[in-house]
Amino acid sequence: MNKTNISLHPAFTIDTVDPRVFGGFLEHLGRAVYEGVYHPGSVHADNKGFRWDVLDALKRLKFTAMRYPGGNFVSGYDWLDGVGPRENRPTKMDLAWQSAEPNQFGTNEFMEMSNEMDWTPMMAVNLGTGTPAEARNWLEYCNGKGGTYWADKRISHGYDKPHDIKLWCLGNEMDGPWQIGHVPAEEYAIRAQQTARLMKMCDPEVELVLCGSCAVNLPTYMEWDRKALEYCHNDVDYISLHCYVGNDANDTEDFLAVGLAIDKQIEELDFATRYVQAKTRSKKRVKLSFDEWNVWYRARSGEHVDGRGKLAPPLLEEVYNLEDALVVMQFLNSFIRHADSVKIANIAQIVNVIAPILTRGDEMVIQSIFYPIEMFANRRTGTSLQVGVDGPTVASKTHPTAKQIDASAILNENELYCFFVNRSTTESAEVRVDLSTRQLTSLSSGEIITGTDPKAFNDFGQPEKVRSEEFNEVIFRDGVALISLPPLSAFGGTFVVA
Ligand code: AHR
Repeated sequence: MNKTNISLHPAFTIDTVDPRVFGGFLEHLGRAVYEGVYHPGSVHADNKGFRWDVLDALKRLKFTAMRYPGGNFVSGYDWLDGVGPRENRPTKMDLAWQSAEPNQFGTNEFMEMSNEMDWTPMMAVNLGTGTPAEARNWLEYCNGKGGTYWADKRISHGYDKPHDIKLWCLGNEMDGPWQIGHVPAEEYAIRAQQTARLMKMCDPEVELVLCGSCAVNLPTYMEWDRKALEYCHNDVDYISLHCYVGNDANDTEDFLAVGLAIDKQIEELDFATRYVQAKTRSKKRVKLSFDEWNVWYRARSGEHVDGRGKLAPPLLEEVYNLEDALVVMQFLNSFIRHADSVKIANIAQIVNVIAPILTRGDEMVIQSIFYPIEMFANRRTGTSLQVGVDGPTVASKTHPTAKQIDASAILNENELYCFFVNRSTTESAEVRVDLSTRQLTSLSSGEIITGTDPKAFNDFGQPEKVRSEEFNEVIFRDGVALISLPPLSAFGGTFVVA
């Protein structure tokens, strides 16, 4: 059996893990809102139309920051269409996904759902067709106390208390040529700065996310970030990055090494922010908002992205398998390893659209990628530790230095949370965890996701083919833990620390 040493030390810390890295994303796209979380016709719906089989399952994931309402959708969205009496709300064409948007779910419904789900709302304003003034009006509508036009409009809609939304994105993927209203970086920077200044004048407590590069393969990668940041550094708090990965080449070994690309993308953007900070001699360090990430490659073109004018068409309905779950775990591990720079992250998305849950009529199935997120849900408070991984590498064409074990660790007083992926498709691994000056005495809980077939997936007929199971194959010797991990596995465990 291959051996890997995981060396940790309580004093070698990275930063406190920001709970907002366990965020989600709900876009008006396909069946995410309609039929996903909002489904008045469903037997699972309450009197508000909220669909509780889905929402109860999502509760298990304990999402924090919830990004809304898009995505590409937001770049053509008029927030006013989604507020006020439902019967007066217009059905509009959504150009981003070529769908019909009935606007029966909008800002206030989202806020009611967020409150019931304990989500931290993270709104994106329209900087495609929208103006800085419209964005600032929306902010006043949401956060104003009353006595002024937009705040009074909210009150007239039945919401006396301000929603108090603190986190706002200045547009979505404005560097992408497909984005409605896409402009060069210089022009976006001017729009973003004008909007940021109006918004901060309206509510000085808001935190703002600047659009950074949304894909490493765009020709503007990094130049966009530098230009936008140089212009807006003083006006924003975070810069975004997005990443979707896939196994187009059907090469599982290579796909399972993709964590290295995720690390690299985070570090490159962090370097860009540090460069601008240094150049401007600023004390302020803009941190990262990884506000779209996931595996997405099968349902990414043709009928999967074209709603053909329909209401709630099935779009981006990716079916996830075991190897995808192991990749999702690597995204989360990477966020923990970069706890000093990544402060917000949102899996895209939460239901039906590239999501951990799929619905069909009143039925629901939990997909493989649900389980790694759930592993972190109860093991995420604390300080990220530097992780020394000493062990064999795996064969990967793109990432030849990928270690067999991908790892992250969080120390929370007398508990140590560890997360490991065994990337090998054939080799088991004995993982030795050593916390140096402190002793590991027992495993209070452990879970594993594993299987022999990387392509195994859950379906309505076989809903539990891939799932997490209790795992306690751990031996303790002299304060060190020895864990035996099968090939193709993801482990999450809580160790008791003396
Ligand atoms: O999450 C799906 C889409 O991916 C989003 O709408 C867009 O921002 C990204 O390209």
